[in-house]
Amino acid sequence: MAKTVLVSGGAGYIGSHVTVELIAAGYDVVVADNMSNCDLTCFNGVKKITGRDDIPFYEIDCCDYASVTRLFDEQKIDAVIHFAAFKAVGESVAEPLMYYRNNLVSFLNILEAAKVHGGCNVLFSSSATVYGEAEQLPVTEQTPRLPATSPYGNTKTMCEDILRDTVRAVESIKGIALRYFNPIGAHPSALIGELPRGVPNNLVPFITQTAIGKRECLSIFGNDYPTEDGTCLRDYIDIVDLAKAHVAAVSRMVDGKMKENYEIFNVGTGRPVSVQELVDAFEKVNDLKLNYRIAPRRPGDVVAIWADTTLANEELGWKAERTVEETLASAWAWERHLAGK
Ligand code: UD1
Repeated sequence: MAKTVLVSGGAGYIGSHVTVELIAAGYDVVVADNMSNCDLTCFNGVKKITGRDDIPFYEIDCCDYASVTRLFDEQKIDAVIHFAAFKAVGESVAEPLMYYRNNLVSFLNILEAAKVHGGCNVLFSSSATVYGEAEQLPVTEQTPRLPATSPYGNTKTMCEDILRDTVRAVESIKGIALRYFNPIGAHPSALIGELPRGVPNNLVPFITQTAIGKRECLSIFGNDYPTEDGTCLRDYIDIVDLAKAHVAAVSRMVDGKMKENYEIFNVGTGRPVSVQELVDAFEKVNDLKLNYRIAPRRPGDVVAIWADTTLANEELGWKAERTVEETLASAWAWERHLAGK
């Protein structure tokens, strides 16, 4: 019988791509989302791509324990992938209590409900932000975590620890934390992708919105960093590749292949790309000119971070496959799809 995966935050950017890949791999998926940061665009896209109109959807807030337990009462859940969280770094600095309450309580509720219902496999969506400005690059999973520069980042570190400690104490719960680098791009169908509310904070949605004419000009935040071209280095991971890493991690858990009851994997490409290189590649692959200017550095940005992906490659049997050009073409196709062009 097919195993069932609960995807909290499943109507969002990463959650929708993961739902598609889970279904393609033969899993049954239950989606939970409170729709606080998305509409039904991506969930409808998921139904179209998968041809499945019957994906159970719970419009619930994971911060409400009664709703979460009701879901676990009604569905037999073999694994949970927990995405439901706030994710805007700047907003988290302005509204720390909102971030700590939302991101911690929702995860605590998921773990509590999993425990009460006899245990579960839990995949937590963490971030490379836990490494801060690392001394040695690329970062491995053993690279020490540093204090995060934002409450958002702190919630990632804290949730990792909550999962680790819960796994230690509750035999029936196993956990994996995936530390994402910079997820970008969209599904090749252009039916699902990133839908930022208001002015995007992240680079690629800002690029595509500038290219389509929604924003006047992209600011490149700093070209005086100690890197080859002076702009920051990141590890941009394609969203479909990222989604496939989740399928590999879930399979590892439900098939009983874990070596430890709590494991951590970096999910990146292993290749550093500068902001300038990304902008140049976007222009080239999509054959257009982007309006951009050099602006002051953005406070809180690290100079450079990229992943050592050996562990994920070897243990999950997973590797990033799409090139950055393919990914940037997919991001542009998605933006045009949204604009009806
Ligand atoms: C941020 C978060 C990370 C989160 C990720 C989600 C921190 C410190 N970073 O990463 O945790 O997982 O978003 O995607 O918490 N840039 C510009 N102009 C822009 C926007 C960005 O030049 O308009 C530059 C930034 O300075 C940076 C790079 O582009 O060098 C990537 O920025 P961004 O997409 O915001 O991601 P991160 O800050 O790396």
